[in-house]
Amino acid sequence: MNEPDTRETKNAETSRRQAFVQIGVGSICVACAGATVFGYEFLAPNVLYEPSPITNAGKPDRYPADSVTQDQQSGIYIVHGPEGLYAMSAVCTHLGCLTAWKPELGIVACPCHGSKFRRDGSKIEGPAPRPLVWLKAYLSDEGDLLVDRSSPLEQKQYVRT
Ligand code: FES
Repeated sequence: MNEPDTRETKNAETSRRQAFVQIGVGSICVACAGATVFGYEFLAPNVLYEPSPITNAGKPDRYPADSVTQDQQSGIYIVHGPEGLYAMSAVCTHLGCLTAWKPELGIVACPCHGSKFRRDGSKIEGPAPRPLVWLKAYLSDEGDLLVDRSSPLEQKQYVRT
């Protein structure tokens, strides 16, 4: 007489056990997936790929005497003064806006807060705390003018052609 109850109890225990096993296996699968994702993140190289800081400004004869040429894309000026060629950053030393050469005024002007600079980068007026930064410029073996935007110069340095 007690036999059906025992069988039902056994079936209920079995299905409960199966449910716990499934929950356990599911939990292990989720933990393994998480460990795999975090393991990959940990082992993958954490490298930021940036373009080269060296700009090829082309042949020096592209820059006529007494000229200021702005390269918008790389944010530099190539100036051909009486002493030779030199390169300056076009980034304003106030808050980092991109300045612009104003040929009609013969100055470099910042559109953000009105700083103005001479063609050698020295400040005329405005909130910029420092002159524009001179950058290392040199000739390659092929005779191209190269500008290293990651190498600010402490002293003025000219490239003579
Ligand atoms: S960013 Fe150039 S004056 Fe402020």
